[in-house]
Amino acid sequence: MTFLAPAQGYALWAPTYSAETAVSALEASVVASLDVPLRGKRVLDVGCGIARRLVSAREAGASVALGLDLTPAMLAQARGEPLLAAADARALPVADGAFDVVWCRLVLGHLPALEPAYRELARVCAPDGVVLVTDFHPAAATAGHRRTFRDADGKLHELENHVHRVLAHRVAATGAGLSLRERRDGTIDDTVRGFYERSGRLEVYEQQRGLPLVLALVFARVG
Ligand SMILES: C[S@@+](CC[C@H](N)C(=O)[O-])C[C@H]1O[C@@H](n2cnc3c(N)ncnc32)[C@H](O)[C@@H]1O
Repeated sequence: MTFLAPAQGYALWAPTYSAETAVSALEASVVASLDVPLRGKRVLDVGCGIARRLVSAREAGASVALGLDLTPAMLAQARGEPLLAAADARALPVADGAFDVVWCRLVLGHLPALEPAYRELARVCAPDGVVLVTDFHPAAATAGHRRTFRDADGKLHELENHVHRVLAHRVAATGAGLSLRERRDGTIDDTVRGFYERSGRLEVYEQQRGLPLVLALVFARVG
């Protein structure tokens, strides 16, 4: 197994990234359960990857849906999304307050420090807007889960992940002018049993049922 920095890792993962995993499936359902309105809203997806979640924003009636990501190879896999560009979450090429809903989904664990990204997420969020962050759950990392993937040749790789506790998210977000509105965990449950079954790891599923894999936080911009 090789250990890869995000830009290098996602360049390799991009061609097969569209296959959902237990983590991505739990993430999508926990975000859906948060019920952040998108109709008529200007939505920015920071670290959008192949833009698969932006498609749902457009389908839900977003008036604008822009995706930004560090890895051009991920953006190149996006199908039919007109508004995409390469950018780092810590230096967004976007005007202050330009978006009503700012997503940053399964990205921040790839950054060693949270503050620069939260400052940018808060800056580009409109005064009455919402910032929705999801991350690989710190409890999953503590339980030994790693962010691994197989490339198109079936080789296993591990992606660099920094463990950020919930309190660290709250402190960085508060410092950036955001206030926590809601927190939810996506935990291993029946809905993801099939992923474990298909990879012959049902015993892991039985042992780890109830373990949180995804942390989801919704913030409002203060002032
Ligand atoms: C796990 S993928 C999530 C993609 C998408 N948000 C989703 O949920 O399908 C993480 C993405 O974060 C991007 N990424 C990593 N570090 C980044 C950074 N500093 N700025 C912007 N994007 C970054 C990667 O290129 C990758 O596409």
